[in-house]
Amino acid sequence: MRAIGKSFPGVRALDGVSLTVAEGEVVALLGENGAGKSTLMNILAGVFKHYEGEIEIGGRVAHIHSPKDARRHGIAMIHQELNLVPELSIADNIFLGRERAILDRKAMEARTAELLRGLGLDLSPRRLIKQCKIAERQLIEVAKALSQNVRVLVMDEPTSALADAEVRRLYTVIRDLTGHGVAVIYISHRLEELEEIADRVVVLRDGAYIGERSEVDRDELIQMMAGRPLGELFPRADGGGSGEELLKVEGLSVPGEPGSGRTPLREISLSVRAGEIVGVAGLMGAGRSELLESIFGLHRPTAGSMSLGGRPYRPRRPKGAIRRGVALVAEDRKAQSLVLGNTIAFNASLPSLGRFLRFGTVDARREHRAVERQVNELRVKTPGTRFTVGNLSGGNQQKVVLAKWLLTSPSLILMDEPTRGIDVGAKAEIHALMSSLAAGGKGVLVASSELPELLAMCDRILVLCEGRITAEFSREQRPTQEAILEAAMARQKVTTL
Ligand SMILES: Nc1ncnc2c1ncn2[C@@H]1O[C@H](COP(=O)(O)OP(=O)(O)OP(=O)(O)O)[C@@H](O)[C@H]1O
Ligand SMILES: [Mg+2]
Repeated sequence: MRAIGKSFPGVRALDGVSLTVAEGEVVALLGENGAGKSTLMNILAGVFKHYEGEIEIGGRVAHIHSPKDARRHGIAMIHQELNLVPELSIADNIFLGRERAILDRKAMEARTAELLRGLGLDLSPRRLIKQCKIAERQLIEVAKALSQNVRVLVMDEPTSALADAEVRRLYTVIRDLTGHGVAVIYISHRLEELEEIADRVVVLRDGAYIGERSEVDRDELIQMMAGRPLGELFPRADGGGSGEELLKVEGLSVPGEPGSGRTPLREISLSVRAGEIVGVAGLMGAGRSELLESIFGLHRPTAGSMSLGGRPYRPRRPKGAIRRGVALVAEDRKAQSLVLGNTIAFNASLPSLGRFLRFGTVDARREHRAVERQVNELRVKTPGTRFTVGNLSGGNQQKVVLAKWLLTSPSLILMDEPTRGIDVGAKAEIHALMSSLAAGGKGVLVASSELPELLAMCDRILVLCEGRITAEFSREQRPTQEAILEAAMARQKVTTL
């Protein structure tokens, strides 16, 4: 890609960026939220009709102005915001737009099953996407890309929802592809991954090419990306957590919904104190999201009880949870958390509008000021709070979700993968924010598939496996990643023996 430029109204997203990738090479694209990574790759994948500069494939100029052009040149992309159609089956999604090439349904489903197996997914090709979990959808996107005859594979944060074991499997797939000469461009905010998988790292900042390295030197890369020295990652050497008991869950059981892929919860007991950060670890399908959602009133328990601040707590709907000062930063921002066609201000103030009421109408000035402050504090990269959320970069959308819930001033904040898709600089800021929430006497219950994050941030870590708590570690016990993983796989081991 040579001297690529792209402007949106009010935003110069890319300016004279060049990028090369060789056959069999893995090039990582690194940069802060909003740096222009997805835009550059969307141009390669034919998402945009208009841009400046030139693309060459195999030494020849390639005119790429539509997804079809890209496909013809063997370019496949796994999008950051997953692009699958929820109402269609896995097989239909994988072959979407190409059904005519493969008339035979049976062949289509057989090929899908084969691709899924290769990625370690034990799912029926006929399963609907809406019944699949986020991590599964991410792997289905990978399967879709692999189903095409690819020469250049672009992966825009393919692992943001994956746990360690699934990431390993993906690496095996990537190595197999590069072994066959496929060129891979890989976007990730997890620097440890780049060390392992990338041959070369290219850094973008504010839409410009900054430089590249073939050795991953963490501090140097962070400096290149941010253009400024950064605060400490995981700023929480010693814990807190000696306050009053805030949330108590006793023997909570929540049924799974047939066909929805929802993991049932079995006899969960836990507590969160004021000032405490409690982590929830587990593999894909362990029930982490289901647990947070149940506490937020999204599912009906069939047994057990909860109390909040010493009073019985039985939310039938999120509304009831919000009223009691509980907030959930959900995992799937696109589906659960944002109205993409609306502004930042609209989205951010939605659940807290009651705070800005004066004489029965919304005090727009106060609302605007509060949103502005929160958005600035989280360093959302945007021309203003009237900007459409759907046009923000992925990581900045995630920050808007955080801003929205922080504006409700919750006493208990539930976070499901809060740093998913967030760059290292912003990650440090979100960690600092979690610490300061806890220091301010709030309770934080956080599910994450990044174990280093949980180990550094949490006073206690609960491990879930198949809907049950299989272990609990306190900070003083200094648990290792291995110990947590072992607990996370406890029951699966027994069943395979
Ligand atoms: N359709 C659009 N309309 C207006 N602005 C846009 C649009 N798409 C992207 N932008 C802007 O272009 C810039 C680059 O965004 P891009 O999505 O490429 O960032 P990114 O590097 O992928 O970030 P992240 O790590 O958060 O995914 C951002 O300022 C974003 O707001
Ligand atoms: Mg992006």
